[in-house]
Amino acid sequence: MTENNLQHIAIIMDGNGRWAAKRGLPRNAGHQKGAEVIIETAKAVKELGVKYLTVYAFSTENWKRSKQEVDGLMNLLRQYLDKNFEELEKNDVRIRFIGERNMLAADIVAKMENLERRTISNQSLVLQIALSYGSRQEIINAVKEAAQKVKEGELTVEGIDEKNFSQMLYTADVPDPDLLIRTSGEQRLSNYLLWQLAYTELFFTDTLWPDFSKEELKSIIENYKTRERRYGKA
Ligand code: IPE
Ligand code: IPE
Ligand code: MG
Repeated sequence: MTENNLQHIAIIMDGNGRWAAKRGLPRNAGHQKGAEVIIETAKAVKELGVKYLTVYAFSTENWKRSKQEVDGLMNLLRQYLDKNFEELEKNDVRIRFIGERNMLAADIVAKMENLERRTISNQSLVLQIALSYGSRQEIINAVKEAAQKVKEGELTVEGIDEKNFSQMLYTADVPDPDLLIRTSGEQRLSNYLLWQLAYTELFFTDTLWPDFSKEELKSIIENYKTRERRYGKA
């Protein structure tokens, strides 16, 4: 039996709030530590030779959290866009964002676009950050785009297929994830990559995201390699 190929890992980074609560700290302290772990994980994924990493940083549902938490998260994001992503940029990582940009503040969107432009030629790893992301909304947007194309005569109804529909999602041109990891013990998808995860191998760990390590990542990958995959193999 040959080992499974692994070119794309998706992660639902959950448990920041519980990590902070266990230490008597505010929730945003958990997000701060969690953000540091994103950088370390991206470097580890790159070193392990995996080409794509997609992390869930903020869902469309997360807008409903307290103003204090949302403001804290947005300021943390500003700090990363201004400075902390530099290390990945220098490490040949391409960064792109997926999600509803129109819900984000204009200065944040400008910084995101700037970072995407600056890293567009980086090749070692593509880091996709799902921000203000919701999978159902992504699919609805793609349906609207397909309908528009039909209306304009660029596409026929019969001509809509999995291949061209995939190209209308935020993740166009990116292969589907081979492995999904969710931390913190919750076993649900929380509106993440519903289309793209159709045949992905799922892995749930009780570790809270701020405690996630390269060692654990390696052991999850070892487990993944032994699994019997059905479809979706690269
Ligand atoms: C995940 O951690 C990070 C975000 C959703 C922004 P949580 O903030 O959901 O942490 P828990 O689940 O409350 O512990
Ligand atoms: C999912 O985690 C979103 C992110 C990790 C950014 P949540 O903590 O928001 O998900 P639920 O509310 O437990 O489903
Ligand atoms: Mg959570």
